[in-house]
Amino acid sequence: MNLPFKRDKKIAILGATGLVGLQLIKVLERRNFPVSELRLFASQDSIGKPLLFHKRLMNIQPVDFSNIDIAFFATDGTSSKKYYPAAKEAGCVVIDKSSAFRMDPLVPLVIPEINGHEIAKHRGIIASPNCTTSLLALPLFPLHTAFQIKRIVVATYQAASGGGKKQLQKLLQDAKESTLDLFPHDSALTPNGYVEEEVKMKEEAQKIMRATFALSATCVRVPVIRAHSLAINVEFHLPFTLDKVYEILHQSPGITVYEDRVNNRFATPLFASEKEEVFCGRLRCDASHANTLEMWVVGDQLLKGAALNAVQIAEYL
Ligand SMILES: NC(=O)c1ccc[n+]([C@@H]2O[C@H](COP(=O)([O-])OP(=O)(O)OC[C@H]3O[C@@H](n4cnc5c(N)ncnc54)[C@H](OP(=O)(O)O)[C@@H]3O)[C@@H](O)[C@H]2O)c1
Repeated sequence: MNLPFKRDKKIAILGATGLVGLQLIKVLERRNFPVSELRLFASQDSIGKPLLFHKRLMNIQPVDFSNIDIAFFATDGTSSKKYYPAAKEAGCVVIDKSSAFRMDPLVPLVIPEINGHEIAKHRGIIASPNCTTSLLALPLFPLHTAFQIKRIVVATYQAASGGGKKQLQKLLQDAKESTLDLFPHDSALTPNGYVEEEVKMKEEAQKIMRATFALSATCVRVPVIRAHSLAINVEFHLPFTLDKVYEILHQSPGITVYEDRVNNRFATPLFASEKEEVFCGRLRCDASHANTLEMWVVGDQLLKGAALNAVQIAEYL
C-alpha cells in the first residue's frame, strides 16, 4: 500500500502584496519549494487583487490559516502580533519577518547557516532577523568562531526598498523630481541617541551568534533601489592573518568573496541585486588598531535579508 505523499506543504503568506511578500512568492518558485496549496493574504484593501505563482493567477483572500502548515508573515510587527494567535490556534508554524517576536527568549531567531539547529526548538513561531543584521552576521559568524569578536563598528548604506513599498515609491518620485538624497535611518530615536535599527543590529546579532561583543552602528538610507552595503570594522580578541580570513570566508556558505583588485572594483548594490549570496571584499587590516579587520559587505536585503532567509528556514522545517 502506498502511504500518502506528505512532503508538499500548505503555505500562506501574510503581506503577499508587499516587497518582501512578492519576493517570497518568487523564492518559493525559484527554489521549487514543494507547495500543495498557497494562500495569499494582505490588508483588507487588497482582497481580490491577483498575483501570479508558477504562472497561475491567485487572488488575495481574507485571512484564514485553517489547515495551513507554514505561514510566512511579511507585514509590520503590529499585524504579526495581531494574527499570530489565529495562526497558532490553527496549528501552523509561523516564520515571521517582522521585529515583533525577534527578541522573545522563547522564539528562535535564525539565520540557517549560523544557527539552523535552533529551528527544532520552536514553539510555533520562528523569527527571521532584520535585514542589516543578516548581512552583518553571515560573514562575521565564521570569523567570530575563529578569532572571537571583541567589538564591531559598522556604517550601513541601506536601499530604499528596505523601508517597504512606500519608501521605494518615494525614492522613484524623488528621482523624477531630482531631489534624491541620503539621510540617517528614520526608525525611532532611542534615549541614548541610537535609532531602533542600530539597536536591533546589536541585540539581534548577539542573540544569533550567542556572543557578547560590543557593537556601535550608524545606519544610513541611501538613494539606491535595492541591496544594502555595510562598511564593517571588526576587532578580534585573537590575532589573525588576512590569508586565514580569506580561507574562512571562501569556505563559508552563502558568502562570495568578490574583489577585482587589478581594476579596483568591488561589489555594489546594483551588482548584488537579485543575487542570493552576500558579497565581501576590500578585506584589509586596520592600520590604526591591532587585531582589527576592515571589510565591505553587500547583499540583497530582500533576499538573504528577508525572503530567502525565511524560505531557507521553511526548508529546514
Ligand atoms: N523590505 C525589506 O527589505 C525588509 C527586509 C527585512 C525585513 N523586513 C520586514 O518585513 C516586513 C514586510 O516589509 P515590506 O518591506 O514587505 O513592507 P511593505 O512593502 O510595506 O508591505 C507590507 C505588507 O503588509 C500588508 N499589510 C499592511 N497592513 C496589514 C494588515 N493590517 N493586515 C494584513 N496585512 C497588512 C500590506 O498589504 P497591502 O498591500 O494590502 O497594504 C503589504 O502586503 C516588515 O516587518 C519589515 O520590517 C523588510
